[in-house]
Amino acid sequence: MRHKKVKNLDSRLAAVQDYLVTDIGGSALKVKETAAKYKGNWREYFASLQETAEPAASIGQATSTGQAASTGQAAPAGLSNPVESEIQHSTPIADTDSRRLYLELGCGKGKFINARALDDPDAYFVGIEGLDAVLVRGLERAKEARIANLRFVSAYVADIRDFFADGELDGIYLNFSDPWPKPRHEKRRFTYGDTLLKYRQILKPGGFVAFKTDNEDLFTFTLEEIERLGLTIEEMSRDLHSPDCTLAARRFTTEYEDKFSGKGKNINYVKIRF
Ligand SMILES: C[S@@+](CC[C@H](N)C(=O)[O-])C[C@H]1O[C@@H](n2cnc3c(N)ncnc32)[C@H](O)[C@@H]1O
Repeated sequence: MRHKKVKNLDSRLAAVQDYLVTDIGGSALKVKETAAKYKGNWREYFASLQETAEPAASIGQATSTGQAASTGQAAPAGLSNPVESEIQHSTPIADTDSRRLYLELGCGKGKFINARALDDPDAYFVGIEGLDAVLVRGLERAKEARIANLRFVSAYVADIRDFFADGELDGIYLNFSDPWPKPRHEKRRFTYGDTLLKYRQILKPGGFVAFKTDNEDLFTFTLEEIERLGLTIEEMSRDLHSPDCTLAARRFTTEYEDKFSGKGKNINYVKIRF
């Protein structure tokens, strides 16, 4: 989806294409169709991305490397051939199937998922975002830091099961998801009960959903849905950044989290373990 206010969006997106899963996008039907090629194949896709010599840089550290060059490495059957450059995996790609795979749904400008991916180079990360005007910043961050284990999808998700096969993911991050405050829109909330059950389907047994929000009503709704479904809460805080809170979820923050906690707003957090 476009956004009128961002200048040079097309050229900025073109410069970071190698971090975008390029053939997913467009109409809902096209998204479903093309996402099906990746569904069940995400680890294979990441493993097909080329290793090169240069190590990943820190977030914010600009790269002097130029335009991407094709590696010529074949993609797995049914997948587009990724164009990669200046990218490396921290360890040899062996035992691909056992690598952990995480999703952030609605990743915005990608601060959180870039930092998570950089910190955990042996896992794979997918960020999905419906608005290119914000996603472009996430893509630029990944390219600047040459993060090999992170890729983004530009798509507005209707059913996440279009993108991931049963049991494919290790964890799902939902950060500051849109609240959809009107009761008639509750099915659109990312923590609506039926949607939580869809996440359970695409997670491995023992996988998790981690949810952060500034929105008290959405958090209360989420806790009610969790209780109604009899799901297991592993961690919870009504004030993640209070000095007393020691949860690891404090470590990687999002743009919205920084904005709201900077204004003194408490951040709600819950982690469901399936
Ligand atoms: C409030 S922002 C939070 C962004 C980021 N996670 C953060 O915490 O800073 C929610 C984001 O989710 C995206 N979003 C909402 N519904 C979506 C959907 N169905 N598919 C993909 N992205 C979606 C929006 O475009 C928006 O960028």
